[in-house]
Amino acid sequence: MCGIFGYLNYRVPRTRKEIFLTLIKGLQRLEYRGYDSAGIAVDGPGKDQTADIRLFKKKGKVKALDEEIYKSDSIDLNAELDTHFGIAHTRWATHGEPSAVNSHPQRSDKNNEFVVIHNGIITNYKELKKYLVSKGYEFESDTDTEVIPKLTKYLYDNRESDYVSFSTLVERVIKQLEGAFALVFKSVHFPGEAVATRRGSPLLIGVRCQYELSTEQIPVQYNRGDSRKDELQEKNFRNRVGSTNALHSVHDRMAVEFYFASDASAIIEHTNKVIYLEDDDVAVVMEGKLYVHRIKPKAGEDPVRAIQTLQIELQQIMKGKFKAFMQKEIFEQPESVFNTMRGRICFESNKVLLGGLSDHLKEIKRCRRLIMIGCGTSYHAGLATRQILEELTELPVMVELASDFLDRITPVFRDDVCFFISQSGETADTLMALRYCKQRGALTVGITNTVGSSICRETDCGVHINAGPEVGVASTKAYTSQFVSLIMFGLIMSEDRLSLQSRRLEIINGLQKLPELIKEVLALDDKIKGITEELHHQRSLLVMGRGYNYATCLEGALKIKEITYMHSEGIMAGELKHGPLALIDKHMPVIMIMMRDACYNKCQNALQQVTARQGRPIILCCQDDPEISTMAYKTIELPQTVDCLQGILSVIPLQLVSFHLAVLRGYDVDFPRNLAKSVTVE
Ligand code: F6R
Repeated sequence: MCGIFGYLNYRVPRTRKEIFLTLIKGLQRLEYRGYDSAGIAVDGPGKDQTADIRLFKKKGKVKALDEEIYKSDSIDLNAELDTHFGIAHTRWATHGEPSAVNSHPQRSDKNNEFVVIHNGIITNYKELKKYLVSKGYEFESDTDTEVIPKLTKYLYDNRESDYVSFSTLVERVIKQLEGAFALVFKSVHFPGEAVATRRGSPLLIGVRCQYELSTEQIPVQYNRGDSRKDELQEKNFRNRVGSTNALHSVHDRMAVEFYFASDASAIIEHTNKVIYLEDDDVAVVMEGKLYVHRIKPKAGEDPVRAIQTLQIELQQIMKGKFKAFMQKEIFEQPESVFNTMRGRICFESNKVLLGGLSDHLKEIKRCRRLIMIGCGTSYHAGLATRQILEELTELPVMVELASDFLDRITPVFRDDVCFFISQSGETADTLMALRYCKQRGALTVGITNTVGSSICRETDCGVHINAGPEVGVASTKAYTSQFVSLIMFGLIMSEDRLSLQSRRLEIINGLQKLPELIKEVLALDDKIKGITEELHHQRSLLVMGRGYNYATCLEGALKIKEITYMHSEGIMAGELKHGPLALIDKHMPVIMIMMRDACYNKCQNALQQVTARQGRPIILCCQDDPEISTMAYKTIELPQTVDCLQGILSVIPLQLVSFHLAVLRGYDVDFPRNLAKSVTVE
């Protein structure tokens, strides 16, 4: 998905080369989100005492953009700029093919008077474009974004008085926009100033200065409108020295750097002090000070934006000794699963505590139904735990794909508890479903991996899965941590049920041993790699299982298709004879999951059906299972754990299978084609 990065240095002299390096580095940190083109806007040398803006845009990788910049001889890379604002963007095509002209920054006109970078989608862009075309504006791209800089210029050209502030202009622009956006603006008319705003897409601003920022808060400014009076007030405000309404008010004329980004991974190496913008905030940096404006207050909203301290470390998001982030993240699972349980399960007293749910537990226990909502892998985590949640909560549990849930206009009631499972916490479909359930009065619970994300902030309560940053587009460690979080929720719900105590104890003991068992599974990596060497030329791969392991089949098949581009299908073994059996012959590669649980005998029937048609399945089974080894073409033997936890172990070989297949087929594991890490559009 698209990525935003901006860098403003105020009274911190930087050569243009250093500025480019910072912007390119910012884009590289966002590469994991998925993109197909990239662009940058910086100040040029200027002519006739006026500012000018230079654009560099390129289809393909950030590396290609970087090379393009150095090819240009029209710009002095050694020139030192005391104050400067540069913006950069990675684009993932939604409107218009990947190309330089469609990439961002998008511009208002040939002189680049206003340039804009945008994440999200403008749904009313056709109407706006029609209007602007009727006013003589010429469009050059196929993007929805281009209406934004053009509309900004239109409003600037038609301003009522000589002076209009940059933030007022942007406020007027966003009043006309429908859809979702995070935007950063730069203009030749406001050199050294930056304006950023959002609605429905995340945006944060990092601040680095000479003194230690700790608990500063930025008061939000309201009631600024379009009238001339407001503009005069704005002018006074701009001239006021030491205003108490800005960050750094007491540090006037202080050197400071600001970083604008759509996610923290691009900021963390510069500063861990950030503010998260809220929907419809308009943040402006003027003369080194940061202000946050809003058109009008909403009931009950926080009147300040607090500086927060990011907890992630840069090395946490770096690849280390691994070939790919995905591989690193697969191998991190003993620790990530442990971190999910850390401080929450006391293995001495067998007590489970989820602090984020404590205040709402009574209400949750009184509910009539649990609804688990997510997309892709996060949906599979809900599916994988449904059976045990039904058993431990004795409630009906629905598991829903967010997009389908909304399409069906599913009935939701005040006594429902709705879970929103999302690694990124920003997935548009899941976020829409959350807002839908909130409107209907249900209690909303977030299961997320990203502190400060939209789902985190908009749910009534939640569990942070603590898996650590997940960079690979294919989700791996987030899945196993979501799984464990939902199991812990089930344990809390059943703590008072006498009849369930021995089951709870069995699960808690199983959880305690889990990190060690995951290490045992990871030790099978070489064997698994060997098996994939026989499979990587195949066009298709079926994954079959049932019961607790049906979700594992779906998740394994999703991993295989998304990074190896092979056709892969997760098949419920009970459905085999209702259709998929027709696919089976001696050429069709099949992986079967047959663990020692209540479905074992039924899975054996499926195995018979497959082998009777000359199928030669690779079987994931428990260690030393004599009944299986004779029938399998190959086996991958896993340690046995409690039935409802087995899916955490059985998914790992499939994660490794997909990783090795993708490497053998020569694909970029971390950046699969057509996919993005954080899907912030519907
Ligand atoms: C698959 C994958 C996706 C995501 C889905 C939801 O490997 O990563 O299917 O699981 O896009 O994303 P989140 O969990 O961020 O809501």
